Amino acid sequence: MNKFPKDFFWGGSIAAHQCEGAWQEGGKGPGIMDYCTAGSYEVPRRFTKEHEEGTLYPTHEAIDFYHRYKEDIKLFAKMGFTALRISIDWSRIFPNGDDNQPNQEGLDYYKDVIQTLIEYNIEPIVTLFHFEMPIHLVRKYNSWLNRDLINFYLKYVKTVVREYKGLVKYWVTFNEMNHIDPQSEASDFFVYMLAGLTYDELPGDKRESLATIGYNMTLAGVKATKLIREIDKNNIVGCVFGIHPIYPRDCNPVNVMNAFKEMDRDYYQIDAMCNGKFPTYKMKEYEDFGIHLEINHEDAQAFAEGKIDFIGLNYYQTGVSKTGEGNENDEKLFGGVQNPYLKQSKWGWAIDPVGMRYLLNYTYRKYGLPIMITENGLGAVDEFIDGRINDDYRIDYLKQHLREMKKAILEDHIECIGYLMWGPIDLVSATNGEMKKRYGFIYVNKYDDGSGDLSRIPKDSFYWYQNIIQIQGEEL
Ligand code: BG6
Repeated sequence: MNKFPKDFFWGGSIAAHQCEGAWQEGGKGPGIMDYCTAGSYEVPRRFTKEHEEGTLYPTHEAIDFYHRYKEDIKLFAKMGFTALRISIDWSRIFPNGDDNQPNQEGLDYYKDVIQTLIEYNIEPIVTLFHFEMPIHLVRKYNSWLNRDLINFYLKYVKTVVREYKGLVKYWVTFNEMNHIDPQSEASDFFVYMLAGLTYDELPGDKRESLATIGYNMTLAGVKATKLIREIDKNNIVGCVFGIHPIYPRDCNPVNVMNAFKEMDRDYYQIDAMCNGKFPTYKMKEYEDFGIHLEINHEDAQAFAEGKIDFIGLNYYQTGVSKTGEGNENDEKLFGGVQNPYLKQSKWGWAIDPVGMRYLLNYTYRKYGLPIMITENGLGAVDEFIDGRINDDYRIDYLKQHLREMKKAILEDHIECIGYLMWGPIDLVSATNGEMKKRYGFIYVNKYDDGSGDLSRIPKDSFYWYQNIIQIQGEEL
């Protein structure tokens, strides 16, 4: 049998702030990403306190999925998707985050998106926090530095999970909270995307602030997991982590150890969510650093009761350990030194299909829980030539990754339950805030200066993926 399992989820993954637009429609409040400017590989995105006149904020229109979701979902269905991971923008449901009542228009909007998916037999996989949070919660409460955020988040979670009971079964509490890393100077970018604060704005001891944000989000995640299962025992709850495995720079044991340590930093929250306990080794590390966390005596019980049902992994690339003897190479956004055995995308991301098999094995052996690849894809510049977009490079990237995933499932016996390609339709890049970095099977006629008629055009990869789904990956 050379096919993927019968009930394997084939599909894609998108996020509200990167595709919806309509930032002031339907009762939505301003969210943290609505204050994030456009950028590029060379020019980093900026986070402005107020909106600057004449500055482009890509989330404001994005690809207008808010108005075009029916058309877009129809195209996903045409490819044969059996699952689509979407995110709910918290600021559409509670515009300020601390409102007494939810915004009905926001609830109705997502209900229609979800029902449209179901009509096409596409399983909705819903992320509750994908860098989307009302800015008011940052301005008034200091974001996740404040434990009150946990209750605001749980109220939002309860509202939507009740609203979509019987329609949505697969829930994701958070996207990539692991990028808050108290042990390194976390990039401004991820601190902002996860907490709406810049690194410089973090009060007092920066490491303590990062540890606090990480702890409070992890606690919110396990509490939400329990709550979601209480609302409907059929619900299946996971959390998504963005992991790029770290290879040692050579077989010098010191460097092997360093690489292990670097990769391990991304796992403490997965440990907490899978093992039912915030890891003691992490608490002791915090003690060593003089970091003090605000912990309540009920927290331990929340961790014990909030274990997740599946692990979502976003995989794009591997890295080489930054630390160790002899480090003269260039560092890239996600860290790591360039690997001489691998090619890179135009954005400097190392293309490593075997790394995906490695990550699946590594994570499955640690926890034994089902894993879903919740994101994987190639950001590239696509061009029209003779009225068509021939994206063979994307097909090649996806083919190689799917082959390695197939080996992980059929040869290594990893319980991998789905492959959700990021982003099946071109959308705003999160780290660069540009349209030029395209991932989709579907081209969107929109450019970095905001121009374009937003029309949708299938690329060659659209038909390739359609065939792969149809034959359940048999030819890979
Ligand atoms: C993941 C995020 O880290 O990477 C997505 O969950 C993001 O939101 C994706 O879009 C790819 O990154 P980028 O910067 O190329 O859009």
